[in-house]
Parts: sequence; C-alpha cells; structure tokens
Amino acid sequence: MVADFAAFSDRGVHIDQDCDPLFGRNLIMLRGSRWRTMRAALTPAFSASRCRSMAPLMAVCARNLHIHLRERVRQDTELDVDEISTAYVNDVIASCAFGFATDSLQDPHNCIFRLAKRAVVQDTTQIMKFFGYENMKTIMQLLKVKIIKSSDAEQFGELFKSALRARRGGATPRPDFIQTLVDAAGKTASGAENFADDDLVAQAVLFYIAGYDTTANLINYFLYEMATNPTTQEKLQSELDQLPGSQEDKEAYDNVQGLEYLDMCVCEVLRLWPLVGAADRRSVARYDFGPSQPDGNTHFVAEAGVHIWLPVYSLHRDARYWVDPHQCDPERFSSTNKHKILPYTYMPFGTGPRHCIGSRFATTAAKVFLSQFLRHYSVSGGSSRKLDPRAFILRPKDGFTLTVTPRNNNI
Ligand code: HEM
Repeated sequence: MVADFAAFSDRGVHIDQDCDPLFGRNLIMLRGSRWRTMRAALTPAFSASRCRSMAPLMAVCARNLHIHLRERVRQDTELDVDEISTAYVNDVIASCAFGFATDSLQDPHNCIFRLAKRAVVQDTTQIMKFFGYENMKTIMQLLKVKIIKSSDAEQFGELFKSALRARRGGATPRPDFIQTLVDAAGKTASGAENFADDDLVAQAVLFYIAGYDTTANLINYFLYEMATNPTTQEKLQSELDQLPGSQEDKEAYDNVQGLEYLDMCVCEVLRLWPLVGAADRRSVARYDFGPSQPDGNTHFVAEAGVHIWLPVYSLHRDARYWVDPHQCDPERFSSTNKHKILPYTYMPFGTGPRHCIGSRFATTAAKVFLSQFLRHYSVSGGSSRKLDPRAFILRPKDGFTLTVTPRNNNI
C-alpha cells in the first residue's frame, strides 16, 4: 500500500468506462496515469481549507434536520437512526457536491435522494454484478453490464451539469465542490477543468458511491456505541455542553475540530466498525514477498494481476494489537495513548497514495451532525451486533433502532 505501491497501484475490481460510462470514470475505478492525474486534480477539493468552507453548509443541513427531529421525538422516542443519518448525509452531499438544497427528512422523495438510494443499493443483483466483473470480466464487458442504470446516470448528469452551467454563467458562488472546479479553471495546467464534463459528473456521483453509506453508517454506529456505553456518552455530552449556546455556522469547522473527546470517540468507532471492512489492491507487476518460511528457499510470489485483500476489520479487532479489542474505549486515541498504536494496525481510511480522499469530508460531516444531535438528545437501547453478511459497507443485520430522549439542558 505504501512502500511497494508501484507494484500494487490498481484496485481489485475494474469496470471500464466503455461498459459503464458513469461508474467506470470515477476515481476508485481509474488506473495508471488517468488515476494519477484525476487524483492530483481532485485533492484540493478535499483539503482542510475546503472542508472548513463546506462545514457551514453541513451545519445548515444538520440544523434543518433537527427542526423535524424535534417533532418526531415528541411523537415517538423509538427511532430508526438510519433514516435520520441517510437523510442528513444526502442533504450534505446534495449541497456540497451538487449545489442543491434538499430537506430529506421532511421530503424523502426528493429526486436526488431517490437517485442516491438506487446508486448505492447493496442488493444481491448489485453484488452479483461486482462478482461478475471480478470473475467473468469478458462476458460482463460484452454484455456491457452497468452498475448505475443509464436512466439514473442521465439524471445525475443533468443535475450536475445544470449546476455547473449556472456557476460558470456567473451564479452566486457557494463554497462547494462545483465551485472548486469552476474556480480552478485556468489556474493550473493539470487541474480538474481539463477533464470533460462527464468525468466531473462521475466524481460528483462518487460522493454518493463512496461517501453516502460510509458516512451515514459512521453516524449510525457512533450512536449505537453511545447507546451501549452510557458513561462514554455522558463524558462526550459534558464536552459538548462547553460549546457556546448559539453557534455561528461559519465557525462550524473550528468548533468541531476543537472537540478532542469527540475526535477520540470517532476514531474508536471507526476502529470497531471500519465500514469498509477490507481494502484491496491488484498487483501490476511480479512481486516477491520473500521466503514463505523463515528458513525456506521457496518464495511467496504474486504474479501481475493477483487480487489482494487487506483485512482492515480483522486488524482492528486483533488481540495482538489491541487490549480488549471488542471493547469501546476512546482512551486508546487520547494524546497520551495514540502514539502507542502500531503503524498499519489502524486504517479505517486505508493508507498510501490510494487512501480515502474523502476522510476529512466524512469525519467533518459526521462530527457536525453528532455534536448537534448529542447536545440535544441521549440515546439508549440497541442490542444487535450481528453484521449483515450481504453488505459491502458494514451494517448491522437487525437495523439501527434506538431510543432517543431529549436532554434537559435548555439549549
Ligand atoms: C466514514 C466514511 C468513509 C470511510 C470509512 C471510507 C473508507 C475508505 C477506504 C477504506 C478506502 C480504501 C483506501 C485504500 O485502499 O487504501 C476508501 C477509498 C476512497 N474513498 Fe472513502 N471512505 C469514507 C468516506 C468517503 C467520502 C465522503 C468520499 C468522498 C468522495 C470518499 C471517497 C473515496 C475515494 C474516491 C476512494 C478511492 C481513492 C483512490 O482510489 O484514489 N470516501 N475509502
């Protein structure tokens, strides 16, 4: 992933843009020099300063959602937190990547939310398509099997291109992904502006493909761990209670960055539930791992084209590296303890040049939501720890229903 990246620079499953013109163009699927150029062009859109400017957009989404949530909790305290987190993450991505305002808890039928749910569906058919591309690539290519339906791809394209046209035509600037692309035009020789609009649409849809289920489930698992670890929840709420009563949206990034215990809890939840349970690479050149036995002459060699899985979930729960690995203990990530973590035993966002480009965006979005939510509500209940065996992204088998109780802190 790091030192020998040159030999393992591709991901395991590749879907060509000739087969799926939208999915095949996204950064995850790209290879070789096309990946390198796109990665370099997109990196500024995920920088700390870009996340700082997008955090107020996230804060608006969180605030809108809390207004409806207050009503819901008055009627029923048993809530499916997945419904809340997916609505919030949809609003964040619609606003930050597509420049659209949506209010998905109030209006779950908005067109971008419907498209998003279809694009990231994890049903048996979708899993079979990836299995097909892994094992019967030629047949899949001949049949041009698409991950994203053509009609959905067209709608995504229309939405994004209409926003892009408006911004290029001088519409009021917003600190979002589209603006980064428009502002970059003319500034550099290798920036995103040198790509066709279809390539840019694919990167906006990437927020849904890579960022929707992952970020929503980070929020879900976070609330689930708080519900089952009340002492941790109380300690976090004491930290949140120190925040000023009314907060300016423009300070959203600095406010959440200053919350040390929240960060420790996010890191611990990502250790227990790394969402992407295994990262992968494909060898692009013959690679010698060295002797397969300490004293043996036989070498363990991967020829070019071998698909390798990196077991992130297992590493995160291995008793050789973590004391009490199944226990939620945010103190592992305190400033005094975190340097004790062995390199490469903790990698919820992967590592090396192909690590997750959206990690800062995802954690900022989750923290903006969680800091507001847990200031106003406490969660309890939640007993399922079984994983859904069919899901790409970790999710519990029995859903995410929790009891949500308003706190009496007059905020
Ligand atoms: C909690 C949320 C998230 C988690 C846990 C997560 C995790 C991961 C992991 C484990 C990888 C593989 C890294 C590797 O192979 O070394 C990855 C790749 C990637 N992620 Fe995320 N991700 C999250 C959110 C996001 C978001 C919001 C985006 C926004 C666009 C995003 C975009 C990507 C992309 C583009 C890649 C592929 C990078 C490349 O191949 O160059 N992710 N993510």
